[in-house]
Amino acid sequence: MRRREFVVGALSTGALVTTLPAASATPFAADALSGAVPYGAAIRIDELADILYSEAVRTYCKVIVAEGAMKWSDLQAVRGSFTFEPTDTLLAFAQDNDIELRGHTLAWYAALPEWAERISSAEEARTELVHHIDTVVGRYKGRIRSWDVVNEAIAEDPTPDAPYRDSVWLRHLGPDYIELALRTASEADSSAQLVLNDYEFEQPTDQARAKRKAFLDMVRGLKSRNVPLHAIGLQGHLRGESAVDSPGISSFVAELSALGLGILVTELDVIDDQLPGPIEERDKLIAARAREFLSAIGSVVRPEIVVTWGVSDQHTWVPIWFSRQDGLPNRPLPLDENYQPKELMRVIQDFTQSFA
Ligand code: G3I
Repeated sequence: MRRREFVVGALSTGALVTTLPAASATPFAADALSGAVPYGAAIRIDELADILYSEAVRTYCKVIVAEGAMKWSDLQAVRGSFTFEPTDTLLAFAQDNDIELRGHTLAWYAALPEWAERISSAEEARTELVHHIDTVVGRYKGRIRSWDVVNEAIAEDPTPDAPYRDSVWLRHLGPDYIELALRTASEADSSAQLVLNDYEFEQPTDQARAKRKAFLDMVRGLKSRNVPLHAIGLQGHLRGESAVDSPGISSFVAELSALGLGILVTELDVIDDQLPGPIEERDKLIAARAREFLSAIGSVVRPEIVVTWGVSDQHTWVPIWFSRQDGLPNRPLPLDENYQPKELMRVIQDFTQSFA
């Protein structure tokens, strides 16, 4: 399927739903995704011991990212003592299977160990942030090519006076922590791709518009100061019930692209707590929503990767915040709980191959 056909398909949900090929009945599609845009997923390292899980990752993924193991709370639970074994294991799995491992994430407001939450001065914040980034990026220099350096820097409801999300870093260092994180990562590995990763740009709301504006303002400021920054991660935790603001996303991506930045889809999934229960109907709506989002991006640029936040419905963060009232399991990901490909996988395959 060529890109124009993919985009045209997205314009008509009805056409999309009826023309999608049925998902394969076999556990894994015979043809692993082989499009020009690499597909991948966030991985729970412990699950790799499950043969079905690891086989699914090997079959479908060309790029992976740790869903948890590379966050501060995992890497430096104890101040000054780094735990690299899980990441090393994941990296070895990736290298053995010719998969790229991305890094996630070096500066975030969440998943911090208690000691880091208690940082109490600018000097301490600067010292710890630099030490962590320097140590982690330095260790994986030349082996992890692409890093989500700052995750979710923009406030949930940004205003002109308060565009940034509260965090221990913002509190002590102000927005300069973003520049500090990027410069430190660049010094630790000058050939690494440095990414700012954020979410909820796609909704047709004033909040999302404000988020896009705040994000663009931030990025323009960084670029004007020649801060090393190479790409933007659009997470893409889509709301099943809410239309994608396609023109909004397309122009956002175009503006970021015009600044010389690559575009990555980093955490795609479709939150389905508000969608109807029946599986066939739900899966079609989920696939259609993802297609809308990918089309809005793909009509403007070729994203460098498409990564979903998990590979199978069996392992997803979604029920932590968005469990369904009817008690049915969530189905946000491309493979179902038995590792069967769903329509969402077909949409991703069509999309990635439309650039080939
Ligand atoms: O592993 C423990 C388990 O032993 C314990 O029984 C259980 C009880 O709550 O908690 C388990 O840990 C949870 C872990 O997810 C399991 O995967 C943590 O409490 C929970 O905080 C953690 O949440 C993760 C969250 O980030 C915070 O780090 C999610 O898995 C992960 O999907 C989510 O990922 C974020 C991205 O990094 C950034 N963008 C949004 C995305 C989704 O929220």
